[in-house]
This record gives sequence, structure tokens and C-alpha cells, in this order.
Amino acid sequence: MSKISAAITAVGAYVPDYVLSNKVLETLVDTNDEWITSRTGIKERRILKEEGQGTSFLAINAAKDLLKKQNLDPKEIDLVIVATATPDMPVASTAVYTATQIGATNAFAYDLQAACSSFLYGLSTATSYIESGRYKKVLLIGADKMSSIIDYTDRATCIIFGDGAGAVLLEPNTEGLGFQDEYLRSDGTGREFLKIEAGGSILPPSQETLDNKQHFVHQDGRTVFKFAVSNMADVCEKIMQRNNLSHDDVSWLVPHQANMRIIDATANRMNLQDDKVLKNIHRYGNTTSATLPLLLNDFESKLKKGDNLVFAAFGGGFTWGSIYLKWAYNS
Ligand code: UT7
Repeated sequence: MSKISAAITAVGAYVPDYVLSNKVLETLVDTNDEWITSRTGIKERRILKEEGQGTSFLAINAAKDLLKKQNLDPKEIDLVIVATATPDMPVASTAVYTATQIGATNAFAYDLQAACSSFLYGLSTATSYIESGRYKKVLLIGADKMSSIIDYTDRATCIIFGDGAGAVLLEPNTEGLGFQDEYLRSDGTGREFLKIEAGGSILPPSQETLDNKQHFVHQDGRTVFKFAVSNMADVCEKIMQRNNLSHDDVSWLVPHQANMRIIDATANRMNLQDDKVLKNIHRYGNTTSATLPLLLNDFESKLKKGDNLVFAAFGGGFTWGSIYLKWAYNS
């Protein structure tokens, strides 16, 4: 019997309608379009404005988009994983609610959190379930309502992040396509540099934490940038070496969209031409867990069966890594 690997067989996505442009941000904080564009590559991001709606709203819409495109009966899904740093609420799981709302009534579901690497780690988890032979259809959704944890008076963070969601379906493949290899890393000394201090078990919510704005994301941008540049490039180099991939063999780099300069530095280290690097940061900013599936959705028509994709991400924690996967279908 040929070996079972896990392949992505469908993608879907959802971004909210409201566009927050650099021009609008100029009216909120001391910044300007020129600085944001040259330092990050971001022009605009999407923001979920619907009252009373959280990350599940984004996840449900991305999943519905995938189900419709694939004409898939949600009852066939075995497992729903929502990769997110902004769950609807600390308890109960966003994935469970999402699964029920899309009609995946035969699935179990849970959330997975690893900051900006959530989707990458989720890909590792989802592929392992498929490769073990235990499950046949795993729906992995990356979704974040970053606007719910951003201080729109802090110019160091509010210019970067946006809201969105993307979904992929993973199924068994016996043609040697799909997941090939991974190199995942983490380092807990990094949590000082990118975090939400309060609201967890160390510092529960209080009037003081609210007054101190400790429920928002704080980052030491320069330090995170430095680590992101070297670590994302390192893991990509490692995965290429380990799998004997030259830059000619890599069809596409699918990099986390945090900063155009980080993406370019990673591509340079891999010696990749710019037209092999998937980018949509100018349209959505950093959507945390949604960046990678949003890229797959936006560029789906360019991806061809057998293409070698190298995924890379870096995020809070610190968490980072790379996954090498062979694309399994022509759309
Ligand atoms: O996805 C998860 C991980 N997150 C990341 O990967 C983010 C990594 N970090 C970054 O992308 C960049 O560090 C930022 C985009 C956050 C900042 O860019 P930078 O080139 O590292 O800027 P900086 O923090 O070193 O600041 C340079 C200057 C400072 O002014 P002085 O001290 O040189 O006078 C800042 O005060 O730019 C100033 N500045 C701004 N100016 C206009 C910082 N933010 C802004 C702003 N508009 N929004």
C-alpha cells in the first residue's frame, strides 16, 4: 500500500468589507502613508465592524466559502481546528461554535494558539491526523479579529494588523503529493517582546489593567523584527537543505505577512526570484493566523499540481517554522 500523505484539497476565505487605509490611520495617530508603505509594505487592512461579532464570524464565512466552492457536505468533516490568537472568548472554543454553525455535526473541534504561527502549527497538527489514518477530512481555519486587541492610539501596532480568515481542507493523498516535511521551533524567552500582558492567569482583568491598557498587544517592534528576519530565513534554508531543494525547485514561498522587509529578506536568503513569492500584505496587513490561507486563496489559480510550496511564519512566543508541501490540484 502506498504511503498516505496529507494534501490540501480546497481553500476558502473571508475578509470584512470595511477598508482601513493608511490615509484614515493618518487621522488617528501620528503617522503617514509614506512611512507605513516604505517600512511595512501595507496600504490597507480589513476591519470587522459588525456589532457583537467575533473571530467565529470570520471563520464561519471562510469555511462556508470553501464548502460552497468544493460542493462539500459539512457532515463529512471529521475535525475542525480554528487557529487563532483572538478566540471569541477565553472559554468556550471558537472552533466548536464554528463547526456547529457550518453544519459539521459529525466533527469534533478545538482551537490552536501559537500567535502568528498558529496556522503553520495547525498545518502540522492537521496533517498528522490525516497521516495517522485516523481521520479523512480535516478543516483547518486560520482566523483573527486583530482589531479587538489593538490600541488605535498606538502607532507601533495599529498600522500593522487587520482582520480576516482563510480555510483549507486536508485529505489523504497516495500520489506522493501534500505534506513533505516540517521544521518548527519555539523560544519562550521571546514572550517579553510581543504579548498581551493582562487578561490571562498571571494578571486577571482589573480596573488597573484596563487603565494601563494591558489588554492590548504590545510589541518591541525592532527586536521582533530582528528575530523574525533571521529565524524565518534560517528555517527556510534548513528545510531546503534537508530536502535537497535548490531555489529552482521551489515553486512558491508562502510567507507570513508581517512586514514586506521580513518577506524580502527571507526570499533573498533562499535566492528566490520575486515572482515566486506570494504577497498580499499591501491589501490586508498582518492578519496573524489568517495570512497563509489568505495567500493560498488569493493565488489558488496560479498553484499547479506538483508545485513545491515552502511555508514560513514567525510570531509571538516566539514561535516560528517552515513547512514543505507539494500542491495537489489544479483549480
Ligand atoms: O507577525 C508577528 C510578528 N510581528 C512582526 O513581525 C513585526 C516586526 N516589526 C516590524 O515590522 C517593525 O519593527 C515595525 C513596522 C513595527 C516598525 O518598523 P521599524 O523600522 O522597526 O521602526 P522602529 O520601531 O525602529 O522605529 C523607527 C522610527 C522611530 O522614530 P525615531 O526614534 O527613529 O525618531 C519611531 O518612533 O519610526 C518611528 N515610528 C513611526 N513613524 C511613523 C514608529 N512607528 C511609526 C509610525 N509612523 N506608525
